[in-house]
Amino acid sequence: MGKQARDGPARHGKPALTTERHLITSALPYINGVKHLGNLIGSMLPADVYARFQRGQGHEVLFICATDEHGTPAELAAAEAGVEVAEYCREQHEVQREVCARFALSWDHFGRTSAPANHELTRDFAAALDDNGFLETRTTRQVFSVDDDRFLPDRYVIGTCPNCGYDRARGDQCEHCTKQLDPTELIDPRSAVSGSTNLEVRDTTHLFLLQSRLADEVGDWVRSRDSWSPLVRSIADKWLKEGVQDRSITRDLSWGVPVDADRFPALAGKVFYVWFDAPIGYLGASREWADVDPAGRDWRRWWRLDEGADDVTYTQFLGKDNVPFHTIGFPTTIIGSRQPWKLVDRIKGFSWLTYYGGKFSTSGHRGIFMDDAAELLPSDYWRWFLLSNAPETNDSNFTWETFAGVVNKELAGELGNLVNRVGTLLGRHCDSLVPAPGPAGDPETQLEAAAEAAITAYLAAMADLEIRRAAQALRSLWSAGNVYLEQTEPWRLVKTDPDAAAGVLRRCLALLATLGRVLEAFIPDTAAVLAGVVPLDAGGPVTTDLLTRLDRALVTGTPAAFPPILFRKIPEEEVEAWKARFGGGDAGPASSD
Ligand code: MF3
Ligand code: ZN
Repeated sequence: MGKQARDGPARHGKPALTTERHLITSALPYINGVKHLGNLIGSMLPADVYARFQRGQGHEVLFICATDEHGTPAELAAAEAGVEVAEYCREQHEVQREVCARFALSWDHFGRTSAPANHELTRDFAAALDDNGFLETRTTRQVFSVDDDRFLPDRYVIGTCPNCGYDRARGDQCEHCTKQLDPTELIDPRSAVSGSTNLEVRDTTHLFLLQSRLADEVGDWVRSRDSWSPLVRSIADKWLKEGVQDRSITRDLSWGVPVDADRFPALAGKVFYVWFDAPIGYLGASREWADVDPAGRDWRRWWRLDEGADDVTYTQFLGKDNVPFHTIGFPTTIIGSRQPWKLVDRIKGFSWLTYYGGKFSTSGHRGIFMDDAAELLPSDYWRWFLLSNAPETNDSNFTWETFAGVVNKELAGELGNLVNRVGTLLGRHCDSLVPAPGPAGDPETQLEAAAEAAITAYLAAMADLEIRRAAQALRSLWSAGNVYLEQTEPWRLVKTDPDAAAGVLRRCLALLATLGRVLEAFIPDTAAVLAGVVPLDAGGPVTTDLLTRLDRALVTGTPAAFPPILFRKIPEEEVEAWKARFGGGDAGPASSD
């Protein structure tokens, strides 16, 4: 939590006790193509849940994301699409923005690392690092493809592995035997861009960030972080133990943030390495957010410790492959700048979502992609499945069978069924009007206790950033409703004691209103429908006594409006059809991207 909490206005009527300020970022999705469900659950979706949760608790939130647009993959994707790279990025940014909106991702700004704000900040950081003596110009030898007229990044040189003989080994590492390679070691090397074997090794000059000089300081900072998840901790520790190396932060490419040639004449015509400018994109996108409304928005208040950010809690969401860049790479840039920028407080890292046990792959188009998913079913089906099966401590697996199983059982069978039963009974016995309160006996006490326990568990899980645990708590909240109906059997009770049966249904309406409030972070569209059954002021944060509070807020005689159907079941034929269409079953390649 932030060092100081301030009193302040809350978004929902009732003020929160203290208003915290939460800066939240999701790892920036690469520009090259619509993201798959693994990307979605690996950073963007849990970040959205956390942002929604904190807003709902009355806190001030700045939730930022952007497309990560530089680097060779973007250039090659543009070439393949036959468009100029800037145009390609402009189009794909819009495509991603739209598809993210279909999943109800609620960022305050979805920016671009190619935006002027990020160019400027990236050059400013390089200048500060240079002023502080942390940059050095070095000449190295690199593979140049004469036919492609360009230097090739290591992974774009392909050849036979000197270790195992695999004939498609990449210049950075052999996928087959995992040996780390230097591209010059490959036998019969060729360009992955064109296949040309007309390669030379040439001298090239680059800027190196002297990370080794900052390693102790960064190490101390890493060790001072006590709220990183074990997954993140262990990856960061491993990197520190292996020793932090100086790394080159420029590339021989034309697409990227140009290096300032006045300051670095030897680097004229080169650009910064994508992993140097991408994390700076968090700041760049925040600045873009503020540029929309300069009078009302102040991005530095979120990022500069000397301009108000000292009470901000900054939480990052990212896949485990991104951990080194966020625990060591980016912090080195910030610490080396010797400027008072906000460093991350909490990092939530995710493992992989697999597709039938294999990897999702963007280049191989293997698995399910966000645009296809959004065509098939409303986003809450996906959100619920992904969040309740989030790959937190281990990988988790997507299959159409398990997906349909979760939808059919948890959403349609439990939550949907609860809502449907209450709606039907209320229509049949109470003209769909909110009934008067009934007597409170054991089942009511149990329902209240169950709701309180569920919400307590939910709040604790959210405080710990444990998404699956939070999902389980939410499920136990709606399950409590089904248990209550089984215990009270209003359909039977109505014959002997109609007032008591009506009282049961009033309780159920209060529970649906409670769900309408508490489910907002996970399945917002469903939550909105539930909150609309009997519109009432569910103001204030989610608290453990929410059910009682909302029961009191219900006005007897108000009409209730139920949705025709909340969730549909996915029949077996559909599972088979989707499997055939998206290619379930085959294990797929061993590598991912
Ligand atoms: N585009 C990267 C990926 O998908 C993530 C970049 S995160 C940032 O792996 F911090 F660099 F922006
Ligand atoms: Zn090999």
